[in-house]
Amino acid sequence: MQDVIRTIDTCRVCGADDWLEVYSFGSHPLANGFLEPTDPLPEEPAFPLDVVVCRDCRLMSIRHEVRPDVMFSDYVYVTSESALIAGHMERIVDWAHERAGLTEGDLVVELGSNIGTQLTYFQRRGLRVFGVDPARNLIEIANENGVPSRAAFFGRESAARVAAEHGKAKFVLGRQCFAHIPDVHDVLDGVTSVIADDGVLAIEVPYLVDLLAENQFDTIFHEHFSYYSVSTLDRLFTSHGLRLVDVQRAPVHGGSIIVFATPQDSPVATRDTVGAILGHERALGLHSDRPYLEFAANTASVIDHIRDFVRGLVAMGKRVAGYGAPSKGCALLQFCGLTAAEIEFVTDTTKGKQGKLTPGTHIPVCSPEEAKDTPPDYYLLLAWNYADEIIANEHEFLDAGGRFVVPIPSPRVVSSRWRDAAAA
Ligand code: TMP
Ligand code: ZN
Repeated sequence: MQDVIRTIDTCRVCGADDWLEVYSFGSHPLANGFLEPTDPLPEEPAFPLDVVVCRDCRLMSIRHEVRPDVMFSDYVYVTSESALIAGHMERIVDWAHERAGLTEGDLVVELGSNIGTQLTYFQRRGLRVFGVDPARNLIEIANENGVPSRAAFFGRESAARVAAEHGKAKFVLGRQCFAHIPDVHDVLDGVTSVIADDGVLAIEVPYLVDLLAENQFDTIFHEHFSYYSVSTLDRLFTSHGLRLVDVQRAPVHGGSIIVFATPQDSPVATRDTVGAILGHERALGLHSDRPYLEFAANTASVIDHIRDFVRGLVAMGKRVAGYGAPSKGCALLQFCGLTAAEIEFVTDTTKGKQGKLTPGTHIPVCSPEEAKDTPPDYYLLLAWNYADEIIANEHEFLDAGGRFVVPIPSPRVVSSRWRDAAAA
């Protein structure tokens, strides 16, 4: 059997081997490795988590790769049903129409399609769709929901099979999955084999600029191999005969970019947005070491700040729980060393997480209904990327005197008075 983890020597985008060492989080269990509450608990394997930047193409990545099939063949995360994401998915379909000139019956292929939620938005507009995702448990649900999908890692082989069975795709989409891919060259070879000559590729990733500016250190965990800027994606796509035609920013998952590309010679025009954002990245100094080293210093201090803040509340006799158990929340708890000693429970809407324990920190996860019976004094908002929506929905908790601690970019408290002031 292949080893579960390997250390990379060369950059997965450009092949260089000149690394800037940015930050070491130490060794941690997988952020989605929720545990059954058995007695005794099983041993949890822990893997190193070291952040590096390639000094050539400036890809930020983690140095150790856990085998993708270990993390993704059976997956607990299902696409969020939040209003923010629903609106975003509708916008993706509009953008696809505007950029790829879609007409009824055209094929849309999605990689990392999860349970097929995004593809249903395309189906409702009369498009043919096909989803590819490595998680067998999710693909089963997608097919039951009427979204034709296959359990496979998207790449040369699986894409050629889609093209042979369904024809070429006018629109190829990968939402929030590209960071999870170690062999990006195999995936882009797959894209170029399935995309129509005038087709458009859209890749949505959390934006490195937002990650650095907002201290989003908790989005760094084993599943996320790479953290992309537009300039690194530009270089990568160009090396596969793809031309960037547009970049949009979106307020999802803490700040994301959707990068649109097309085969080099396609008639699709390049928009001014591309040159503008590349210029912006140069102005920010992303090609130098400075922003990454600043991020490392901020990370160390925010981790201390969050830990001290929560421990201070507990020392004052306050009850603290976690709101949401996203993988980044599990990572944050691990990095801050916050365990069941400080955090009474974590509430999450995902059925597959409820009744389990958070990986490494062993905090029980319960449903929102259970949490309502014993609300804490403070909720540490681990799903901070939905802060506005959650704070608006939780008016009863706030009106009863409850408070949120939003940990990122640095801990701040939200009470009903603050909410009312913000709304005024
Ligand atoms: P995501 O940021 O990767 O989409 O994960 C969000 C997690 O937070 C997911 O486990 C569901 C959970 N969640 C809640 O428990 N309540 C909520 O209101 C929202 C929006 C998310
Ligand atoms: Zn590189």
